[in-house]
Amino acid sequence: MSTPHAEHANLFVFEHPLIQHKLTLLRDESTTHRLFRAQVAQIAGLMVFEATREFPTERIEIQTPLEKTMGIRLATPITVAPVLRAGLAMAEGVLDVMPEARVGHIGLYRDEETLAPVTYLTKLPGDVDAGPVLLVDPMLATGGSAAAAARLLREAGVKDLRMMCLLATPEGVTRMWEEHADVPIYTAGLDRELDERGFIHPGLGDAGDRMYGT
Ligand code: PRP
Repeated sequence: MSTPHAEHANLFVFEHPLIQHKLTLLRDESTTHRLFRAQVAQIAGLMVFEATREFPTERIEIQTPLEKTMGIRLATPITVAPVLRAGLAMAEGVLDVMPEARVGHIGLYRDEETLAPVTYLTKLPGDVDAGPVLLVDPMLATGGSAAAAARLLREAGVKDLRMMCLLATPEGVTRMWEEHADVPIYTAGLDRELDERGFIHPGLGDAGDRMYGT
């Protein structure tokens, strides 16, 4: 898993059976909103294990019931930054396995005509730059939203930035490489193409709509 995709140096695709099984459930149009949200959160939780592998740690002395020993703990605060709306279910999955993380909400939507991202909310921890940030958004389509979110986090001083998504397109990954080459992208699938409406094919439909029944 530490090996990037052969054609995209910034992309890591999870081939793990559990993640692929859950992604297939997401793609299936008969999957209900409730199951869809649950699977999104579970995939994000599984991805955390790999995406956080290089998070900084420190050694501390602790007292077990029997003796003093050295332990390891995360050295800095951690932030998960969901892009609304669809990133919220991924953030829930991250928080299940990493409850110490703070949440920085980024509200972005794509203008339906131009597909350009429009920012409507930014609510980050004051010291978001004190540690690594995991940007989460299920869909990396044109890459416009992810690039805008990454820009916003960089402007807030974030140095260690990683992104987790469920599906990516070659266009989106390339756009991130052009604008944020130092942001590794972890995904469950790299899909074939983007259509003129900005939908990923074969894809899973509109993640936000499928999650919330809109
Ligand atoms: C979707 C998705 C991403 C964005 C990806 O959100 O969750 O945020 O589109 O597209 P891009 O890579 O072309 O920018 P959407 O705009 O549908 O908003 P929503 O989550 O509120 O439905």
